[in-house]
Amino acid sequence: MKAKNILITGASGLLGRRILKSFNEVKAWKVTGTAHTRPAPELTQVDLADLEHLTDFLDKARPEIIIHSAAERRPDVSQRDPEGTQRLNVGTTAEIAAWAAEHDAFLVYISTDYVFDGTTPPYHVDSLPNPLNSYGESKRAGEVAVLSACEEYAILRVPILYGLAESLGESAVTAIAQSLLDAAGSTAVTVENWAVRHPTLTDDVADVLRQMVLYREEHPTFKGIFHWSGKEAMTKYEMALIFAEHLNFEKSRILPDNRPPAGAPRPKNSQLDTSSLTSIGIAKHTLFREALPRILQGEEAEKI
Ligand SMILES: NC(=O)c1ccc[n+]([C@@H]2O[C@H](COP(=O)([O-])OP(=O)(O)OC[C@H]3O[C@@H](n4cnc5c(N)ncnc54)[C@H](OP(=O)(O)O)[C@@H]3O)[C@@H](O)[C@H]2O)c1
Repeated sequence: MKAKNILITGASGLLGRRILKSFNEVKAWKVTGTAHTRPAPELTQVDLADLEHLTDFLDKARPEIIIHSAAERRPDVSQRDPEGTQRLNVGTTAEIAAWAAEHDAFLVYISTDYVFDGTTPPYHVDSLPNPLNSYGESKRAGEVAVLSACEEYAILRVPILYGLAESLGESAVTAIAQSLLDAAGSTAVTVENWAVRHPTLTDDVADVLRQMVLYREEHPTFKGIFHWSGKEAMTKYEMALIFAEHLNFEKSRILPDNRPPAGAPRPKNSQLDTSSLTSIGIAKHTLFREALPRILQGEEAEKI
């Protein structure tokens, strides 16, 4: 049987690296991953924001399934550069969606809990999006581009991610650990204690995506909007207290800041309801405390 041709955009990123690893374990799939500024021998380097080259690239690669993970995902960067964010998060997504529709490819678009305003959690797959910042707006516009172009699609919304990283600062979650390490000699570290987050392990998301694609092989009508999320609710301050246990950092030196964070406005609690996946048996949950030792050891000095 011919191997299924799968494309993963953003395969040099925090999430994309784990999707690539997980998908490569399926023998029946031929997986191609893309990178932009972080090339690697296993990856194809392409500027997805260059729409002409993007189309050429897709025409040559001919994927049957596209996992579109590449994005500008830093809310403060998006807020400062809405045009650049729009180009990648919306323009590129619209182009990929149009190509997928024209070539009967199944498109899986990775989106975010930041499409919601965080005032009425939990959010279901049919809850009304109301993004508060430029990043959330661009990701919602990407969703709309997929919904309007494609019949055969899945949109997977996920919340704040952490996982094996090239450096602790790569994820907003492990960046908290870095701030504790940086403060080793000083008296106190103040950490945000306002927004309720659901930190989600990139390996779990990658596994869920793999399950979704395998499920669709058995159930060709499987499509739509889905949510995946870690189960544990915590503020960044509460995450810092858990990191402190692992880093032998004195907890009394961590002070909560109960104000909303500075910079781009954030949702207070955008908890995602995951029942559209769990109800069909798709799930993968690793507890935060269980994942931390491996994440902090940075097993991924692994640059793929
Ligand atoms: N991280 C989170 O907490 C979080 C939360 C919710 C949703 N998400 C969503 O999850 C997805 C993956 O996020 P992530 O955390 O893995 O992001 P990331 O670590 O910042 O990775 C972004 C990826 O996009 C690629 N990229 C950026 N500009 C590009 C361009 N012009 N052409 C080609 N590739 C380009 C990057 O390539 P290079 O690095 O090689 O330049 C990288 O592979 C995104 O869609 C994001 O919106 C993330």
